[in-house]
Amino acid sequence: MMHCGKKNICGVIACILIFATIFISSWKDVQQQNNITRKHFPQATTTSPAYQSCRGEPAQNVITPLKDNRTFIISAYFDNRESKATRVIGIVHHAEVKELYCWFCCQDDRKMYVSKATIDVHSDRFGFPYGAADIICLEPEGCDPTHVSVHQSPHGNIDQLPRFEIKNRKTETFSADFTVCISTMFGNYNNVLQFIQSMEMYKILGVQKVVIYKNNCSHLMEKVLKFYVEEGTVEIIPWPINSHLKVSSKWLFMQDGTHIGYYGQITALNDCIYRNMRRSRFVLLNDADEIILPLKHSDWKTMMSSLQQQHPRAGVFLFENHIFPETVSTHMFNISSWNTVPGVNILQHVHREPDRQDVINPRKMIIDPRKVIQTSVHSVLRAYADSVYVPMDVALIYHCRVPLQGHLPREALIRDTTLWRYNSSLITNVNKVLYQTVL
Ligand SMILES: *[C@@H]1O[C@H](CO)[C@@H](O)[C@H](O)[C@H]1NC(C)=O
Ligand SMILES: *[C@@H]1O[C@H](CO)[C@@H](O)[C@H](O)[C@H]1NC(C)=O
Ligand SMILES: *[C@@H]1O[C@H](CO)[C@@H](O)[C@H](O)[C@H]1NC(C)=O
Ligand SMILES: *[C@@H]1O[C@H](CO)[C@@H](O)[C@H](O)[C@H]1NC(C)=O
Repeated sequence: MMHCGKKNICGVIACILIFATIFISSWKDVQQQNNITRKHFPQATTTSPAYQSCRGEPAQNVITPLKDNRTFIISAYFDNRESKATRVIGIVHHAEVKELYCWFCCQDDRKMYVSKATIDVHSDRFGFPYGAADIICLEPEGCDPTHVSVHQSPHGNIDQLPRFEIKNRKTETFSADFTVCISTMFGNYNNVLQFIQSMEMYKILGVQKVVIYKNNCSHLMEKVLKFYVEEGTVEIIPWPINSHLKVSSKWLFMQDGTHIGYYGQITALNDCIYRNMRRSRFVLLNDADEIILPLKHSDWKTMMSSLQQQHPRAGVFLFENHIFPETVSTHMFNISSWNTVPGVNILQHVHREPDRQDVINPRKMIIDPRKVIQTSVHSVLRAYADSVYVPMDVALIYHCRVPLQGHLPREALIRDTTLWRYNSSLITNVNKVLYQTVL
């Protein structure tokens, strides 16, 4: 009880502090905004009205570098959860990008409005010089801008600047209950069999859409992705981040001259949340070799409605990751036609590593995207709702990969055949895809 009481007091104090900060910073923003419009609006209207009309070149790529080479724009999203603002998701050099301005185009009066951006570099940079950033601009009053350009200066000619559509302005009806965001497929990805099995498991469990930020993969994998895109399940976001920055395949900076961690995974995840905010009830943030596997329910929909009933204030549900080493197999479900397909047959890996005493199992999430402001990989950084830990008897993450505790003998692992509940529909569905793609 005592512990609980303390937590409540801390919560109240934290809330007060957060609201005070929000109030002060939004007041500051308003002041800044007033200054900017007063100071820069005349400058922006001195040219002829026709010339003033919405200028700039439509952005052509998913990752757009600005002229400074230190700012990369991914997408712009309307966000009125706190104030009427445009949130631009980008990647910036944490120290060298100090000032940015949004150039809004107001269709009605065909004028341009300049607004100074608040640059919020996410705190989970892990030592790399570049990180995910929210570039937030208050929108001009009496105008619902459809496009925005981002520039280092409130002055100058923006004719050549890329302009970005501001997404999420219209309310949409949900087209999906569940969307899985797979961040950064890279390194000639060729784990075809495991990928198809994961996809079919997601579909069995209730997914309608899987968004994949694709850096690169094998030719065989391209064929499989094409199949799923045509089926309507997969949406590919091209992610050529290595043509702009030196990427690390690790999450922690190793002083090795790289610019950004894990192929910019964190930026991709944040973009995916906003991209699906208006169209998906829930978003799952996990890798292609991970499956959130319910134990008490047969699918995600029944599991989530039960979890939401138990935790009405929650918007972030965290699931424990458990390693099923691909080095430990069973003879069951050794399907001969699958043996010619590159990749792991997950049905043959039903032994999981035990928990370690001094290691906390990392978690992955199912979130209500409308409740999240900024996300990291294993937790959210900022949200409008509570996070809850989902216990092991409700669900776990089945994660089949190289072992973390490779020294353990088979007998030390825990046999866990939860996945086998789905064996018959999984095998049928995987065969269908294999025969239409790689076999
Ligand atoms: C920006 O990057 C491009 C391509 O890497 C390079 O050619 C150009 O010189 C860079 N510009 C600046 C200002 O660093
Ligand atoms: C994918 O990237 C790897 C390096 O990680 C490279 O060797 C390979 O050629 C690339 N494949 C394609 C199809 O671009
Ligand atoms: C699967 O069956 C093939 C022969 O059909 C055999 O060579 C292989 O060792 C078996 N693999 C496992 C993991 O049982
Ligand atoms: C495979 O699924 C079927 C049908 O659901 C079930 O009867 C059978 O027990 C499962 N096999 C194993 C080994 O669990």
